Amino acid sequence: MLLNPLCVCCCFLKKQVSSFLHQYLCDLVSGLSREQRAYQYVLTHAIPGDPDSILDAFDIWCSKIEFISNIGPKKGKILDRLLLEHSPLTVLELGAHCGYSTVRIARALPLGARLYSIEMDQNNAAIAEKIIRLAGFDDNTLIVNPSDEVIPKLHSEYGLERLDFVFMDHWKKCYAPDLQMLEGSGMLCKGSMIVADNVLFPGAPRFLRHVRKSGLYDWKVHRATLEYSKGIRDGMAELVYKGHN
Ligand SMILES: C[S@@+](CC[C@H](N)C(=O)[O-])C[C@H]1O[C@@H](n2cnc3c(N)ncnc32)[C@H](O)[C@@H]1O
Repeated sequence: MLLNPLCVCCCFLKKQVSSFLHQYLCDLVSGLSREQRAYQYVLTHAIPGDPDSILDAFDIWCSKIEFISNIGPKKGKILDRLLLEHSPLTVLELGAHCGYSTVRIARALPLGARLYSIEMDQNNAAIAEKIIRLAGFDDNTLIVNPSDEVIPKLHSEYGLERLDFVFMDHWKKCYAPDLQMLEGSGMLCKGSMIVADNVLFPGAPRFLRHVRKSGLYDWKVHRATLEYSKGIRDGMAELVYKGHN
């Protein structure tokens, strides 16, 4: 049966309102934020130093108890595969939230690779830092500032010459300007890969328009559903930079 898009939208809004109320009550009763509650669960259910068990604990919490916008296991597996195929030595993540995708990326990287993860929210970054450390990775990886302030300094302050892999999962309106900033920085090289989550839902139309029109990329969208949900269609874009020539 085909669902009317208006119906899907109304159902989604209803769910959003009730989950907002649920979250507000949980915050009030527990005295903790949604991210802190997830962290408490992971801390008490995962094995320190074992990234797989940390990701599993997050996935159980987010699919059964409370939604957190981690990339999740399904799209996460696509990301894992792209990282393993590409074997990047320098990786930039935009939007760490609680550190789920940071751990997912770190565990797939070859020895000697460097991951820079940018998160602008201090509270989220504090959780991400603890999760990255719990997984046994170096929490120096995290830079707490907005992406548009950090990207211009990646070369001068962090000594980055090139980026082999970029994972975008921050606010969708930042995808297009940040991609253009990365292009202008000279750090993208022929073959650099950019993976962007949620390009269909909530969607990043300006970003997709730029990718299509610029001619700078070979690209495709991996169809999937929104993290920890079944009914909402989403997609993750995979771009390979062709360079200017
Ligand atoms: C969808 S969550 C990231 C989820 C995470 N990638 C994962 O899969 O585990 C988005 C995060 O991006 C952060 N964010 C949004 N815009 C940002 C920006 N311009 N610079 C840095 N962080 C940003 C938000 O604070 C939020 O924590």
